[in-house]
Amino acid sequence: MTQSLTVLGIESSCDETAVAVVRRDAAGKVEVLSSVIHSQVVAHAQYGGVVPEIAARSHVETIDSLAVRALLEAGDVTLDAVAATAGPGLIGGVMVGLSFAKGFALARDLPLIPVNHLEGHALSARLTEDVSFPFLLLLVSGGHCQLLSVKDVGDYERLGTTIDDAAGEAFDKIAKVLGLGYPGGPALEACAKTGDATRFTLPRALLGRKDCDFSFSGLKTAAAKVAHEEVKTEQDRADLCASVQTAITRQLIDRSDRAMKAFIEQNSVTAPDFVVAGGVAANAAIRNALKETSAKNGFTFVAPPLKYCTDNAAMIALAGLEHYQKQGTMPRDVHADMAALARPRWPLDEARSKSAPIHKSQGRKGAKA
Ligand code: KG4
Ligand code: ZN
Repeated sequence: MTQSLTVLGIESSCDETAVAVVRRDAAGKVEVLSSVIHSQVVAHAQYGGVVPEIAARSHVETIDSLAVRALLEAGDVTLDAVAATAGPGLIGGVMVGLSFAKGFALARDLPLIPVNHLEGHALSARLTEDVSFPFLLLLVSGGHCQLLSVKDVGDYERLGTTIDDAAGEAFDKIAKVLGLGYPGGPALEACAKTGDATRFTLPRALLGRKDCDFSFSGLKTAAAKVAHEEVKTEQDRADLCASVQTAITRQLIDRSDRAMKAFIEQNSVTAPDFVVAGGVAANAAIRNALKETSAKNGFTFVAPPLKYCTDNAAMIALAGLEHYQKQGTMPRDVHADMAALARPRWPLDEARSKSAPIHKSQGRKGAKA
């Protein structure tokens, strides 16, 4: 770590438009100078999920003013680079953020760093915690559910992934069937509080399997069937929510436990960190259960503050900054910067899987998640 760096980050891959300014000083201390977010939840709520066209238009409408706010809040800073999410995500939204970043970089004569959104999540804990490499990461959001061995900045090995839906997607879809609104995760968690988790027996796929993969589509179908046939009262609904939350938690625990054992076999480190990131990490029952599993396996449990668990631009700025710092200098190549592509799919372990394709099960969504 040699120089102090300040980076503007831009995030627009799903239904949050976000801009942030993050600085890391020469001693390695990270400071989030500003982090502003515009959530589109209200615009999508009536459709029960994110509508890509509405999302892209909303990013266009808000990104300029958010950038102005983030820069004003950061105060008198000299920027060293611009980092923007270049994928994976909804392509319209990614293009809006990336194009804005290109224009900004060109106008200010700054290098542009295209960032993998998943890498933002992977490194988000380093915004606030002293997490060192290698560490084990559980990334659980609306679009992703994977376990990764994070070896260094830019070096990720995927230990497991979902073969169908992401955990957040299961929360959202089941909540929708139960009429709980969007986003479903927080609503389902609230409803589960007064429910009996033992009332309904739901499938718990892949438990005990030697790999670290996930599957939630069977649970989703079974829960929808129970919802249609057996949920008549508020108590029935709460009981189903509690049963669903427990089934999802059990699977996350079982798969994480398996990954912890694999990680320990691969890495000779004592008390490694187990980091959980992504929107589902906001769920208190899931957090508590993962904390216990971490302690049982000799891991230190780390969860970023909730505002950095869900989509934000501070994590994108940090990921860009970490790449910049790892490289030492950022050669100014305006042609390469302007040629950066928006990618709907961009697996985080791309470099490794090209040289050694370890993963066969990529699910119907392909390599996105
Ligand atoms: O990371 P995120 O903000 O966006 C991406 O998907 O990248 O995650 C959003 C997901 C949604 O599926 C939402 O329902 C879920 O995180 N979520 C929760 C909770 N809060 C958000 N799921 C369960 N319990 C929660 N408290
Ligand atoms: Zn995300």
